[in-house]
Amino acid sequence: MNESLAVTDQATQPKTAPKAPALPDAQTVTFVKHWTDRLFSFRVTRPASLRFRSGEFVMIGLMGDPDEKTGKQKPILRAYSIASPSWDEELEFYSIKVPDGPLTSKLQNIKEGDQIILRPKPVGTLVHDALLPGKRLWFFATGTGFAPFASLLREPQTYEDYEEVVITHTCRTVGELAYGAALIEEIKQDEMLAELMGEDFHKKIRYYPTTTREESPKMGRITDLMRKGEVFEDLGIKPINPEDDRAMVCGNLAFNLEIKEMLEDYGLEEGANSDPKQYVVEKAFVD
Ligand SMILES: Cc1cc2nc3c(=O)[nH]c(=O)nc-3n(C[C@H](O)[C@H](O)[C@H](O)COP(=O)(O)OP(=O)(O)OC[C@H]3O[C@@H](n4cnc5c(N)ncnc54)[C@H](O)[C@@H]3O)c2cc1C
Ligand SMILES: NC(=O)c1ccc[n+]([C@@H]2O[C@H](COP(=O)([O-])OP(=O)(O)OC[C@H]3O[C@@H](n4cnc5c(N)ncnc54)[C@H](OP(=O)(O)O)[C@@H]3O)[C@@H](O)[C@H]2O)c1
Repeated sequence: MNESLAVTDQATQPKTAPKAPALPDAQTVTFVKHWTDRLFSFRVTRPASLRFRSGEFVMIGLMGDPDEKTGKQKPILRAYSIASPSWDEELEFYSIKVPDGPLTSKLQNIKEGDQIILRPKPVGTLVHDALLPGKRLWFFATGTGFAPFASLLREPQTYEDYEEVVITHTCRTVGELAYGAALIEEIKQDEMLAELMGEDFHKKIRYYPTTTREESPKMGRITDLMRKGEVFEDLGIKPINPEDDRAMVCGNLAFNLEIKEMLEDYGLEEGANSDPKQYVVEKAFVD
């Protein structure tokens, strides 16, 4: 086995091969699930010293191919939202597969027992600390932007701090909603959360999935559905206002900018860790 943390098939290694020295930031893959041909989720061991706030992201990656001339390998690292909550003993990630992407063209092949690199320095703005108290919390996600909310939806503080939690998820196709839909079903059945938060805690969750390029019960971009007032009508709640509503946004750049402008028009102001306000935004990826 080479020195890298790149995906390897251990079954093909000669029995006499020396064991690769584990790099300081190596973590072992414990579970992989492919949701569509371009989306998968996986779990890895959690470094004992890693503390993070639900909603934060870390850098993860694999070793790149050896340099043709020197044979040296460099790590390929990318930002990833931690999709599991702060209390979980493992770490979960929800990932795109970009066909020619330097990292994900390799990462999509990981299997249980493989190792990945995880730099244990969590950061990010999609955290409870960056918001002032409110009654209703909105999570606005497109595509893999659901990942930080998969963490926050499993975080007891979300239900302690808010009377209602609305999660909107807009994807092109129905298949791309599957990870989020399955997670919300799982949360509703979660005995530990029910014990902690009370049996009815899941009634606070209002899930609002929409698709834009495949038929589904609710079609359209969430931004358009909000402009038309359809979201508020469907959910039976008042339009967003700065007294009651708080929001976290995670999607592509155009989506983030559009929804940011809408939230400002509703009278909400952007917060930060050092200056909590009414909404926060993070990019789901760099275009
Ligand atoms: C703060 C932050 C958090 C992130 N969290 C996640 C996460 O939880 N899950 C995740 O899959 N990615 C996440 N990303 C994106 C991630 O960092 C990588 O870009 C992604 O893994 C692809 O890596 P790559 O090397 O294969 O391709 P890259 O060279 O990084 O990207 C190639 C192109 O693929 C497209 N792309 C990249 N990521 C995505 C995506 N997630 N969805 C749709 N198109 C994309 C973009 O057009 C990009 O220009 C996050 C990015 C940021 C900035
Ligand atoms: N998803 C796929 O099947 C697919 C397949 C091959 C390649 N890709 C490529 O992968 C990249 C990312 O695709 P993705 O589907 O993960 O993410 P995406 O393009 O960010 O789209 C995710 C969802 O967000 C919606 N959206 C985009 N901009 C918005 C805005 N300004 N306001 C409100 N909603 C907005 C999209 O609606 P719209 O549909 O209306 O844009 C879609 O439903 C793209 O470069 C794409 O070309 C995607």
